[in-house]
Amino acid sequence: MGLKFVNTGASLPEKILTNADLERIVDTTDEWITTRTGIKERRIASAQEATSDFSIRAARKALEGTPVNPEDIQLIIVATTTPDHFFPSVACLVQKALGAKNAAAFDVSAACSGFIYALTCARGLIESGDIKYALVIGADVLTKFADWKDRATCVLFGDGAGALLIEKTDGPGDLLSAFIGADGSQSDILSIPGGGSRHPYNPETWSQHPAFIHMEGKEVFKHAVTRMIEASLTALRQCGKTSDDLKLLIPHQANLRIIDAIAKRLQLPDDKVFKNVHKYGNMSAATTIIALDEAQRGGRLQRGDLVELIAFGAGMTWGACVLRW
Ligand code: UT7
Repeated sequence: MGLKFVNTGASLPEKILTNADLERIVDTTDEWITTRTGIKERRIASAQEATSDFSIRAARKALEGTPVNPEDIQLIIVATTTPDHFFPSVACLVQKALGAKNAAAFDVSAACSGFIYALTCARGLIESGDIKYALVIGADVLTKFADWKDRATCVLFGDGAGALLIEKTDGPGDLLSAFIGADGSQSDILSIPGGGSRHPYNPETWSQHPAFIHMEGKEVFKHAVTRMIEASLTALRQCGKTSDDLKLLIPHQANLRIIDAIAKRLQLPDDKVFKNVHKYGNMSAATTIIALDEAQRGGRLQRGDLVELIAFGAGMTWGACVLRW
């Protein structure tokens, strides 16, 4: 038995923040951001919007036009590191909003690799259990945790959510392989130091441990390239494929230079590599599933095409999966 992919959905904030807007907020330039990252603009959640709002909209879009009703769903997993609250989980908020009363629901925390982690969890639960339909969502609003005085990080991130509706099927299914990995020894180079149980909110010590993104960009860059290449090759090897067999590679969209370095190493021509980093920046766990949604709705993928998703993020965590769309 295996997994069949029924549909995808995505939801993005309406507000667009351009590089020109950022020039008015921090000491930066469109030229620096474009040449160092490839990002031109990103979507920013409003003060009233949280991760569950985008997750719910993305899930509804994935259900739209399918014969699947919310009550048919037996599993909801949301990959996020920016939940509305510590608890309840975002997955439970999605379950409530959809009326998916027969679904178990929980969140997975693996930062930018979260969607691939969540999909891997879903595969295990579907193949070993009695689940017919599942929703796997990647959602983050990292801009709420950006320090808008730190030009080295605030220009990089955007918000959004994507959802994948999955059906259990007889036979091998369309998820050909999935590989996940982590290296906790590198946990300090990308983190949100404050706001958790190590340094809970305290106005007196807040300046030492703020709930803002901290990143050692150059170090993260090096690990991201190496790990995503390794992950890609491992997931391809696991299912007996090579990068030549891929119709499309969907890499995590943190930096155009990272994407280009990976494509070069995997010897993939430009038209086989999906890129939307210029429009959205790094949307963390939402990135690869929003890209898959855009690729299939925009005609870059047809049913039966082979696609690989690869991601890397804080933890450090990484993952890759090969699927037949
Ligand atoms: O989602 C998880 C994965 N995340 C990533 O993969 C991110 C990986 N890292 C990166 O993408 C890159 O390291 C960055 C885009 C974050 C930074 O690019 P970089 O080429 O590594 O630049 P840098 O941090 O070494 O900074 C170079 C210079 C510095 O100035 P000095 O010290 O050379 O005078 C920075 O202060 O660029 C300066 N700088 C900026 N200048 C204008 C840093 N940020 C900015 C900015 N505008 N926004």
